[in-house]
Amino acid sequence: MKPAIEISGLNLFYGLFHALKDVSLAVERRKITALIGPSGCGKSTLLRVLNRMNDLIPECRITGSVLVEGRDIYAGGEDVCALRKKVGMVFQRPNPFPLTVRENVAFGLRVEGINEPGAIEQAVEESLKAAWLWENVKDSLDRSALELPLDQQQRLCVARLLAVEPDVILMDEPCSALDPIATGKIEDLMIELRARYTIVIVTHNMQQASRISDVSAYMLLGEMIEMGPTLQLFSKPRDRRTEDYITGRYG
Ligand SMILES: Nc1ncnc2c1ncn2[C@@H]1O[C@H](COP(=O)(O)OP(=O)(O)OP(=O)(O)O)[C@@H](O)[C@H]1O
Ligand SMILES: [Mg+2]
Repeated sequence: MKPAIEISGLNLFYGLFHALKDVSLAVERRKITALIGPSGCGKSTLLRVLNRMNDLIPECRITGSVLVEGRDIYAGGEDVCALRKKVGMVFQRPNPFPLTVRENVAFGLRVEGINEPGAIEQAVEESLKAAWLWENVKDSLDRSALELPLDQQQRLCVARLLAVEPDVILMDEPCSALDPIATGKIEDLMIELRARYTIVIVTHNMQQASRISDVSAYMLLGEMIEMGPTLQLFSKPRDRRTEDYITGRYG
């Protein structure tokens, strides 16, 4: 099967700073790929490349090619809004909109011009169920999303992007604001979502990477050092630098 994402010869500059150096990788469909590496190595930068969030940063320049489902997302004429629906993102801090629970999930649909109440209700229920939040919020859909506990806010952010039917879900340290129980729930949810979506997660938690990911990629100072099946990368890393990092000898 062709990979969901194929990056080749990617270089990214913030002004004069060379943040990603000749990065190539293929992300397999319906797998969880973990990006690991020390702070500042370029994990978030690489994740943002995949849905062109870096477009918002002045002075950010990219060379190389990034194919998502076979399309070069940096080729001229690409519809960035459509891309961000297909490649959704969940951040470190849950960032629900200051709207009701229902309107958070319905947001993307309304942007697309879908307002028919039956269609909205159905999509809201399905997305909340798929994000394991329905039982928590089914009686409070009109409550402000900002009143939910943090872990429910994070699952609401997942529901919000599921509503627009993405192919790829990017998660940048999605559990870093959560306690271990809420973290476990997000991890279990990711494992279930993997059956339908391609997931790329950034994590500083090596246990998390080894628990949930199929493939791991170790980055250092903007370079992709090593990528492979998680079991192999954690048990028999090929590169000394990977070994130093996963055994805690880095830095
Ligand atoms: N908007 C920006 N402008 C200039 N430099 C940036 C910008 N964003 C990130 N950088 C720099 O690019 C490098 C990679 O940053 P990035 O945030 O991708 O690292 P990271 O691996 O996600 O780190 P962390 O684990 O701390 O989140 C860092 O040196 C950072 O200072
Ligand atoms: Mg980061």
